Amino acid sequence: MATRIKIFDTTLRDGEQTPGASLNIQEKLEIARQLVKLGVDVIEAGFAISSPGDFMAVKTIAENVKGTIIASLSRALEKDIDRAWEAVCNAENPRIHTFLATSDIHMKYKLKMSEEEVLARAIAMVKYAKKYCSDVEFSAEDASRTRVDFLYKVVEEVIKAGATVVNIPDTVGYSSPEEFGQLIRGIRDNVSGIDKVDISVHCHNDLGLAVANSLAALRNGATQLECTVNGLGERAGNASIEEIIMGINTRKDYYGDIIHNIDTKQIYRTSKLVSSLTGVSVQLNKAIVGANAFAHEAGIHQHGVMAEKTTYEIMTPESIGLSQNRMVLGKLSGKHAFEERLKEMGYNLAADEIAKAFEQFKELADKKKEVLDRDIEALVVEKVSEVEEVYKLDSFQINSGNKVIATATVSLIKNGQPILEAATGDGPINAAFKAIERTVGFELELQDYSLKGVTEGADALGEATVRVAKNDRIYIGRGVSTDIIEASVKAYINAINRVVSEQDKGAANGKETV
Ligand code: KIV
Ligand code: ZN
Repeated sequence: MATRIKIFDTTLRDGEQTPGASLNIQEKLEIARQLVKLGVDVIEAGFAISSPGDFMAVKTIAENVKGTIIASLSRALEKDIDRAWEAVCNAENPRIHTFLATSDIHMKYKLKMSEEEVLARAIAMVKYAKKYCSDVEFSAEDASRTRVDFLYKVVEEVIKAGATVVNIPDTVGYSSPEEFGQLIRGIRDNVSGIDKVDISVHCHNDLGLAVANSLAALRNGATQLECTVNGLGERAGNASIEEIIMGINTRKDYYGDIIHNIDTKQIYRTSKLVSSLTGVSVQLNKAIVGANAFAHEAGIHQHGVMAEKTTYEIMTPESIGLSQNRMVLGKLSGKHAFEERLKEMGYNLAADEIAKAFEQFKELADKKKEVLDRDIEALVVEKVSEVEEVYKLDSFQINSGNKVIATATVSLIKNGQPILEAATGDGPINAAFKAIERTVGFELELQDYSLKGVTEGADALGEATVRVAKNDRIYIGRGVSTDIIEASVKAYINAINRVVSEQDKGAANGKETV
């Protein structure tokens, strides 16, 4: 008999706890909309009480994103649950997700509570959440290191208290597939009332086993899998959604008739959007979505694939929506053709967004002979991460070489007026960034800078990403251009505009994480 499983995406909560990842509300909303297209059953939109910014993000998503359950995390505390409910109450399908640690180590050192106290709190808080919301998930944090009899007891009691989903997290990524599978089987076989609820698992990747543990849990009765796009998450990350789904789909012979709602053709686009907006790039050899995932380098493999794809290819790039990067348009192409191609690629932009993207496309087509799908993708993602352009690039001039001190002159436009400044630095990029800082009148701490080609070839579009810090907040800036210095300059200005727009909104800092 077929088993329907649910995919719970926590990219916007646990995923955002990835060191260095940072998203504003608009970006979170954009990712949430894409997650709906991907077909996830639950979006954990954030941890409402952790900061005013997180609260607003959860609330905005709850009010604007339909077609899926929207959850907010909360500790097992009344004030957290109140705030979580305030954030999700207007969702089409709201969920409160409350958690409490159950392992000896957490109860002794972190909570300083006895088993009896933890059990009583778990029951009380599920009942409290239930007063607000019919859909309540309870997580026994650090479940994989919890005394099994106590775990059974907690799970049984929270079900009696009204939990509709019980989550068994491998919080520190400590478990192994066989062991974790047995833990889930044990819960299935020993907890009364378990058949009335979903058994969820939430695996971290500290030992590289998050996906393996999740799949082992699936084989032993788990009906909800918690995961993130690109495996983002606290420390080494969470189980990656794309690996779990492609594992299930590719090995139907092993996992059986599992039904899920994921449209695998949206996987690549979702991965790309998340990596661009978070500024956390995907490692080249990452399974499914890494740039090398479908590349065949060895001659013997290439030969095999040419003769018969299945010799070395267990799934197709098309199945995850990876286009063949075909040449799409050139500088003579009209707006209609451009718009059609965008639609074929799955982007539904508003008329003004299409007009702007088309302008950028025309500029690009002037510099680049063949405009490929990936170039268009880069332009569209740039649009998505757009922020109000308080500062706009007017012009820049750089002088650099191996025997001269790099000098940059940059002119930015603010309120229609040009501001011109010059600076020297260790190389052209450093000089340009310093000149930009002079024009805006403040400095940023540059934490990371990366530059990659969107496609191959000498006229390829370069995509620059900067991660900067200001007042304990992290901002990501992106810029694309066929000129790598221009791409870098644009990325820095983009980050500066984010700082300025957040300062204007007075967004709060000091987000708490779990
Ligand atoms: O890793 C964990 O245990 C968590 C819980 C809050 C579900 O993220
Ligand atoms: Zn977690």
